[in-house]
Amino acid sequence: MENLTFGIIKPDAVKAGTIGSIIQRITDDGFRIRALKLIHMTLKQAEGFYAVHRERPFFPGLTEFMSSGPCVVMALEKTGAVPAWRNLMGATDPAKADEGTLRKAFGGSLGENAVHGSDSDENAAIEIAYFFSQIEIV
Ligand code: CMP
Repeated sequence: MENLTFGIIKPDAVKAGTIGSIIQRITDDGFRIRALKLIHMTLKQAEGFYAVHRERPFFPGLTEFMSSGPCVVMALEKTGAVPAWRNLMGATDPAKADEGTLRKAFGGSLGENAVHGSDSDENAAIEIAYFFSQIEIV
């Protein structure tokens, strides 16, 4: 699965009306969209998704935010998809993100940073399977 990664356009970016701009940037960067849908996570679903962070102090705020409105979940294909998507996203904190990255352009804060991406091939497979069934990946 090293050519696949998982991404989220988070509720802040959806609310700001930037879904279209972000998807344009993704396809301009050479990614092929293999799966995509708009969802509104329940708190329980957000807690399940971010379970690895459950002991962190930001976990309650993170899961509340991620279930506060709709977001777009995506399976993205490119050679070296995980690092390629992380490069396009930029640093987790938009204030530290490089010029030309999505978080620099669309992120507002460390918590509301416009996009999520998997940090490893293993987690990409787990995260894709959390949101998509086999028949939804084209
Ligand atoms: P994401 O890539 O979705 O993975 C976990 C998220 O937690 C991260 O992006 C941030 O938006 C969010 N977050 C909130 N506070 C912190 C923090 N102090 N350190 C790291 N991540 C944080």
